[in-house]
Amino acid sequence: MRILVFAGSLRKESVNKKLATVISGKLDVLGAEVDFADFREFDMPLYDGDIEAADGIPAGTQELASRITAADAIVIVSPEYNYGVPGPLKNAIDWLSRIRPYPTIGKICFLASAAPSMVGGARGLIALRPALSFMGLWLSGDSFSLAQANKAFNEDGGLNDSDLDKMLDGMLDRFVKVTGSAQTT
Ligand SMILES: Cc1cc2nc3c(=O)[nH]c(=O)nc-3n(C[C@H](O)[C@H](O)[C@H](O)COP(=O)(O)O)c2cc1C
Repeated sequence: MRILVFAGSLRKESVNKKLATVISGKLDVLGAEVDFADFREFDMPLYDGDIEAADGIPAGTQELASRITAADAIVIVSPEYNYGVPGPLKNAIDWLSRIRPYPTIGKICFLASAAPSMVGGARGLIALRPALSFMGLWLSGDSFSLAQANKAFNEDGGLNDSDLDKMLDGMLDRFVKVTGSAQTT
């Protein structure tokens, strides 16, 4: 079972990238083949119908599409910007939606978020669901939001809070089981 994992943040010290790394390690232990991507690999311009008409789908979008196509499931770990979906991630979804058929159709998807705030980016994940659902992804009912993420990681990169760590283990175990019973590739 192959699972694409990426964070919807570009910056190097991103707490969402740190959480994506934790999730990748746990999926590896659960026996999945993890494709960990840096969102920078999917560089693309702001969606512009004129660019699409002149040049087609950008290379970064095509790369993201082919990595999704090769996966049975995807994990998106995204910050919340102004209670919503960060622009770069929404832009990538908009470009992806110009490909037929959608590369996302039938893929299982687990969402997670991290933020220094007490809410941990949970509102951004709620905002993310409609567009992903429209793109044919099967969204896990579970999602994981890491609050106070600026002080949530230990020196080894793991989660400080063992209860939260166990909760995440349980969610990912269910996600892997569901993906295994509905393999798409
Ligand atoms: C444009 C912008 C909007 C933000 N809006 C929110 C917000 O609505 N809620 C929140 O908890 N944090 C918000 N933040 C703070 C981010 O959670 C914080 O910068 C976080 O570290 C971003 O994730 P990253 O570390 O993975 O890049 C915002 C940050 C930026 C740059």
